Amino acid sequence: MEYTVTLIPGDGIGPEVTAATQLVVAATGVKVLWEPFEAGAAAAEKHGNPCPDEAIASIRRNRIALKGPVGTPIGSGFRSVNVTLRRALDLYACVRPVKTIKGVPSRYDDVDLVIVRENTEGLYSGVEHMVVPGVAESLKIVTEKACQRIAEYAFRYARSNGRKKVTAVHKANIMKLTDGMFLDVTRRVAKRFNDIESNEAIVDACCMQLVRDPARFDVLVMDNLYGDILSDLCAGLVGGLGVVPGANFGENCAVFEAVHGSAPDIAGKGVANPTALILSAAMMLHAMGERDAASRVERAVAWLYAETDVRTYDLGGSVGTMAFAEALAKRVS
Ligand code: NAI
Repeated sequence: MEYTVTLIPGDGIGPEVTAATQLVVAATGVKVLWEPFEAGAAAAEKHGNPCPDEAIASIRRNRIALKGPVGTPIGSGFRSVNVTLRRALDLYACVRPVKTIKGVPSRYDDVDLVIVRENTEGLYSGVEHMVVPGVAESLKIVTEKACQRIAEYAFRYARSNGRKKVTAVHKANIMKLTDGMFLDVTRRVAKRFNDIESNEAIVDACCMQLVRDPARFDVLVMDNLYGDILSDLCAGLVGGLGVVPGANFGENCAVFEAVHGSAPDIAGKGVANPTALILSAAMMLHAMGERDAASRVERAVAWLYAETDVRTYDLGGSVGTMAFAEALAKRVS
């Protein structure tokens, strides 16, 4: 069987880490026909459109995509390609497993949690305007429908992945209507999943608890902004942005991408750590039903860090992106 997968290499280190990931996927023996599209800052400059309709149509057709990071201008300029894709394809559930990898230096050796982030609304709805000069307004849009489906997703995910607990992260003490609704809906959904423990945490206190004792958390469900921030925080608990994978799921398609951005500071040097995207590709293989290939990739990553001194520069080594991928590919094949 051959799978057609949309490929968006993206900006900055994106093309480097996607090439490394393609090498490892090829080593699994799973046949993938990649359908590449440019998107991001480079595409905006070249074609005047950061997120071409053809790329969106390709993902709709193939129902699966692997995406490198894309740059987004700060303060002005075009709308984030990530936000555009997530909304156009209704990729409402962003899933980011954060797990200690033996051999990756970090403060903890027992982190194993999953962030489930609502991906389509909240403060990322993009409804912003100047009220009068000197006063700007940004609207946080929250719908019961979106709260319901992300809460259900988190509990279903917990159940089908052998997880024990779901924590709803919120700020309903201040945002009583928006976060209040998220919390009410999550409580209602929790009642239908009585095999899964549930609790709640206010987002600021949750950050403190995560930094002090991350092992107390299992699945965490939250809105768009909190999910964005906590994903990077949690990446810091297990060795940094270079090692945390992710995926965006909708009813009809899924886009797999690392948590990290385009890292312009190291782009083009061939030194980026491709682990995060390679592990995202393992999630992709799982979703395709290629479980054996997926676990071979995961085991190879675990082996590389636990048993060898092959390390990219972010983790204190000097091995380049492609050499890192070649070492993994050899183990996978
Ligand atoms: P970033 O994640 O690109 O970089 C933060 C720091 O982590 C940098 O020092 C970078 O060198 C390092 N880093 C990130 N990934 C790495 C890797 N794989 N290997 C080694 N080191 C790595 O975050 P930043 O600088 O805030 O954002 C840069 C651009 O990326 C922005 O335009 C931002 O909008 C975009 N971005 C895109 C995302 C996506 O497409 N999913 C996600 C986050 C940011």
